[in-house]
Amino acid sequence: MPNNLVMPRPNEKQRLALKEQHRYVGYGGARGGGKSWFVRWKATLLCLQYPGIKILITRKTLRELLNNHIVPLTQMLEGIARYNQTEKRFSFPNGSSIWFGYCACDADLGQYQGAEYDVWFADEAGQFQEDWLTQIDACVRGVGNFPKRTYYTLNPGGPGHGYFKRLFVDKRYTPEEHPEDYAFIQALCTDNVALMERQPEYRRALEKLPPKIRDAWLYGKWDVYEGQFFEDFRDDPSHYGDRQWSHVIDPFEIPGGWKIYRSFDWGYNKPFSCGWWAVDFDGVVYRILELYGCTDTPNEGVKWTPPQVFREIARIEGEHRWLQGKRITGIADPAIWDGETGKSIAEVAAEHGVYFNPGDHKRLPGWMQVHYRLQFDDKGFPQMYVFRNCKAFIRTMPLLQYDEHKPEDLDTDGEDHVADEVRYFCMARPIKPVKPQIEDGFARSAAAMFLDISREEIQTIKRPRMEVRNG
Ligand SMILES: Nc1ncnc2c1ncn2[C@@H]1O[C@H](COP(=O)(O)OP(=O)(O)OP(=O)(O)O)[C@@H](O)[C@H]1O
Ligand SMILES: [Mg+2]
Repeated sequence: MPNNLVMPRPNEKQRLALKEQHRYVGYGGARGGGKSWFVRWKATLLCLQYPGIKILITRKTLRELLNNHIVPLTQMLEGIARYNQTEKRFSFPNGSSIWFGYCACDADLGQYQGAEYDVWFADEAGQFQEDWLTQIDACVRGVGNFPKRTYYTLNPGGPGHGYFKRLFVDKRYTPEEHPEDYAFIQALCTDNVALMERQPEYRRALEKLPPKIRDAWLYGKWDVYEGQFFEDFRDDPSHYGDRQWSHVIDPFEIPGGWKIYRSFDWGYNKPFSCGWWAVDFDGVVYRILELYGCTDTPNEGVKWTPPQVFREIARIEGEHRWLQGKRITGIADPAIWDGETGKSIAEVAAEHGVYFNPGDHKRLPGWMQVHYRLQFDDKGFPQMYVFRNCKAFIRTMPLLQYDEHKPEDLDTDGEDHVADEVRYFCMARPIKPVKPQIEDGFARSAAAMFLDISREEIQTIKRPRMEVRNG
């Protein structure tokens, strides 16, 4: 190590993380644990140890990169490595380099096309959505004899929350992922001895936060965090069979007399989503089947055109035993009737014998209807169930976040096509809340999302005047 570079003593968790050699290392899980410090030091140590190594450090924005890494590293590496502002990289005399990248939207991914790095540090990786993470991770490659590794520093929350919870907390892997590639080191702010000594009030500041953020940021709890829009949604495999306290359940045969609906959201250059629903004699709804796919960028090799989508919908309805011969009421995003530049999506659907009624697209009352449906009664029975084969619903609904600027709405940057289509469906069969939660203090549950709107608005939302459109 160069003479003038003196590494402060790492704390115990940092020491473990510094020694880690797995292909994917998750580090952190709460605020102030010393994650960014670890990133700067580990990147520097790798550069000194492996002449010629190429390292990438990412954050969501350039400003965050500057504040958290570029400025502190410029001081730390003075006389050791040179920073090139245009290229956003530090070069070491031994040929090693640390590059910086950000990603705040899909277009920023262009920076990483064709790039190669040996080691990637994704600082605050939870701020990235899953497809950004996998696309940037594809850059961790190369022929050099250097370690190939990805370090994710994490706090609960953000668009990547579900992905990291699955990998590092629940440890559930897809067939393509190898469990032996993953290691997780949890670091809480209390593990950061330096910070606790220098700034004991930091912990007290975290303790004063609202309970949910506090649990996530102070105690590193992953099952609750501020920002999840459908926090009432539960996917608990231990209750798939008994239908209590879980929305996701095992599929069953649909009785003949139940009504069947089809809800649809068209994705202009985005995924489309089609859900089929069965409604029992008590009005409880079951999402029984779905079709979800991409209309623009190829998703798992399939890119759907409108005729293909509706041909497939018609095929499923003609062949599947739950739908065959049934009268199916279709509800869709009213935008599918827009046909200014040619044939509308609704026309293409009709050509394939797939018909829809325009859905009610009022967002707030629509979200309220979805929340009412998801509410459990005292015995743990909700008004909406999802068959466990409906993978797109189960994957995307828990990931949706509140909009930062409109706290009562969800952030439309998320993968919200299933949610939109579910909302149109719920608006076609509006119900009253299971529990009178709004009257008795509206900060208690899902209705907390209305904290920022007036009581008058709540009154109107409580009594939706939608017509029941049905067949
Ligand atoms: N081993 C150490 N020795 C001295 N100071 C340290 C050490 N580890 C971390 N620190 C200091 O503690 C503070 C918090 O650390 P850091 O910013 O790395 O935490 P973090 O986990 O990234 O926090 P956040 O969740 O807010 O991003 C910083 O001022 C950092 O320089
Ligand atoms: Mg940090």
